[in-house]
Amino acid sequence: MRMYDLILKKRNGGSLEKQEIYDMIAAYTRGEVPDYQMSAMMMAIYFQGMNQEETLHLTMAMANSGDMLDLSDIQGIKVDKHSTGGVGDKTSLALTPMVAACGIPVAKMSGRGLGHTGGTIDKLESFKGFHTDITTDHFIRQVNRIGIAIMGQTKELAPADKKLYALRDVTATVDNMSLIASSIMSKKLAAGADAIVLDVKTGSGAFMKKQEDAFLLAREMVRIGNGANRRTIAVVSDMDQPLGRNVGNALEVKEAIETLQGKGPEDFVELCLTLGTQMLLASDSKLTELQARDRLKQVIADGSALRKLAEFVKAQGGDESAVYEPEKLPTASIEESIPSPQEGYVSRITCDEVGICCLILGGGRETKDSVIDLSVGMKLQKKVGDYVKKGESLAVLYGNDPEKILAAKRRFIAAYEFSTKPVPKLQLVKGIIS
Ligand code: URA
Repeated sequence: MRMYDLILKKRNGGSLEKQEIYDMIAAYTRGEVPDYQMSAMMMAIYFQGMNQEETLHLTMAMANSGDMLDLSDIQGIKVDKHSTGGVGDKTSLALTPMVAACGIPVAKMSGRGLGHTGGTIDKLESFKGFHTDITTDHFIRQVNRIGIAIMGQTKELAPADKKLYALRDVTATVDNMSLIASSIMSKKLAAGADAIVLDVKTGSGAFMKKQEDAFLLAREMVRIGNGANRRTIAVVSDMDQPLGRNVGNALEVKEAIETLQGKGPEDFVELCLTLGTQMLLASDSKLTELQARDRLKQVIADGSALRKLAEFVKAQGGDESAVYEPEKLPTASIEESIPSPQEGYVSRITCDEVGICCLILGGGRETKDSVIDLSVGMKLQKKVGDYVKKGESLAVLYGNDPEKILAAKRRFIAAYEFSTKPVPKLQLVKGIIS
């Protein structure tokens, strides 16, 4: 294989053969293809696209680039869940303990922030001492013992995706359907769960801005998952504004805790119930949709989901007391309100801009090696459809550097649009594909 020839072929709109894709991924994983050549390939794929066959080969080549986990030692049908990425998307933090508290084993592999979106592992690291670099043995024992474990991508599991994910993050090559589908499905297949529930985001804060593209991505991933004998379901959900109210790592952990205390924002609670219902149904075919929803509501009401979160944090080395005393989580030194520049109904929030504001405050990575500030972010007080008076607060920004706050504040205000006429609330769930 000559990497130059493959880049040229893709750049000129050709299709890559199965063997070419496998050789390229194997060589990149071994470190024999440099990042600059793989960046060029990612950009060529970004512009020229990949057909269904190429996408399937890329997925399988990446899934097979390391070990394939065998979770057969865990009793029951194991469920994994994955979001295509959004702003304020802290769903896994609340949803996985909810599902585990219902008695369904959750064996999940998570990632870090990507582009303007946050990542579950970064968020969970807001708990002092928490880590996801656990061994496969630890992972399996923990799911058997407490019903939930989340691991990061190790060198052993889909290592090709681990390298490509970090590379795409800093080369503006994230938002391509084939690259997203192969990235997500390769690690889901390698992580070994029996059932996979996907949350495919659409809107200005998602990688798939257009609804029809999100549905195409959802169908593509369901096709790949079912083809590999994993029960796969995709929920297409709104990302035209941040989910819930909090954006930023520790702030999102706090909102997930509030949700498990029964005090979560309406849209976020609804999404957890929708995805949770699909996870329960995938694992227990005797349940009805209504029964699944009721069980999920019950584990919030009786506190067992919150206790499950604490148990999970402790099992992975974190300070679980912060679940009950969230003030122990990282907190920014400066809080600044953002006054509305005008009166009216919020008609649009350019959602990826809100994610970028969080990056400007220090909450995301500029390069592969950047260290992120877990304490920064924002709490939205007005969302689409809300009425606001001139000067009333749209949101509170949390930061540690006045210059960054100033830059984020300007950009945040520009992300809001207003109308003099009432604006309907956004529809949260756009469709379910199974
Ligand atoms: N999540 C992933 O794991 N990979 C992507 O490419 C996008 C979102």
